[in-house]
Amino acid sequence: MRFLDSRVAQLAPYVPGEQPQTNDFIKLNTNESAYPPAPGVVEAVTAAAGRLQLYSDPTCRPLLAELGAYLEVPQDHVFVGNGSDEVLAFCFQGLMGQGVAYPDITYGFYPVFAQLYGLAAQVIPLREDLRIDLADYATAKGTIIFANPNAPTSLGLPAAAILELVTADPERLVIVDEAYVEFGGQSMVPYVKEHANLLVVGTFSKSWQLAGARLGYAVGQPLLINELNRVKFSFNPYSVNAMTMAGGIAALQAREYHRNCLEQTLAARSWTTRALEKMGFEVLPSQTNFLFVKHPAVSGAVLYPALKKRKILVRWFANPRIEDYLRITIGTQAEMEQLAAALQELID
Ligand SMILES: Cc1ncc(COP(=O)(O)O)c(C=O)c1O
Repeated sequence: MRFLDSRVAQLAPYVPGEQPQTNDFIKLNTNESAYPPAPGVVEAVTAAAGRLQLYSDPTCRPLLAELGAYLEVPQDHVFVGNGSDEVLAFCFQGLMGQGVAYPDITYGFYPVFAQLYGLAAQVIPLREDLRIDLADYATAKGTIIFANPNAPTSLGLPAAAILELVTADPERLVIVDEAYVEFGGQSMVPYVKEHANLLVVGTFSKSWQLAGARLGYAVGQPLLINELNRVKFSFNPYSVNAMTMAGGIAALQAREYHRNCLEQTLAARSWTTRALEKMGFEVLPSQTNFLFVKHPAVSGAVLYPALKKRKILVRWFANPRIEDYLRITIGTQAEMEQLAAALQELID
């Protein structure tokens, strides 16, 4: 049709993990937290809902102050957006003038954003062992972006290796997506003050129990943060709504609850790793709230639908390099015991 944009018509959009319409699934497919928001979060969101006749604060200052204090950076080093998906979209839109390089197996939104914003993209294969080798990025042109720890592999890089890449060329921007860093990765946030070409992206969706609220952030020097704000204020200054802002602040204040949820997730991860290894699964050493696993006899392509039939939802990727694997979010201990029992039946 005349009014359609042919470039948009050719886009291959991101396919989000399934959100079942019924409550009878054990949901281990989108790496959300297994636990509800802290009680103070529900209270704060309810109070904010009572003032919804007003626009939200476009400066987001109270949230930036709280988040800056948690991350131990000044608040002018912090940017917030509607989930890290939006923050990443703004990065692709505003910080990749010279193109972008990212791994072949990583968060599925990167290639979508590259296509959406018409960027020259260099796709760099993971090594045979599914790890990122930053030596492969030495001659990459434009901005480099990767998730650390990476998804869906669950594998992390040490901060020292990333720092080497950052310092190798101060004119080249490195963006590290730390969606899962709190589950055992090494954060690059402490290095942002020293390095103008480093930007860290984070989210409240995985370790803060707020996936449904949509809250993500970026940490970098003010020059980068100002560019992200330029994009945001050219699009939607209110993308972090009043309830999300209140929920984010309250979550950051409920530190003990946050720590408890992390500890329970890590304990359930250790238990599940051991249980699956006993069944013969290869379990990659996870630094995230999910496991990437494969069985020598039964492929992920077979296990995924069989688990779904048993009302257990995990994630399977139809990508030739990883089609034998399953990505399994760490749920509660009880959920992981049900998963292990189902897998045992399926491989017997
Ligand atoms: C590596 C990575 N980055 C970013 C996101 C997006 O998170 P959100 O938009 O919920 O903040 C995800 C979600 O699964 C992810 O796996």
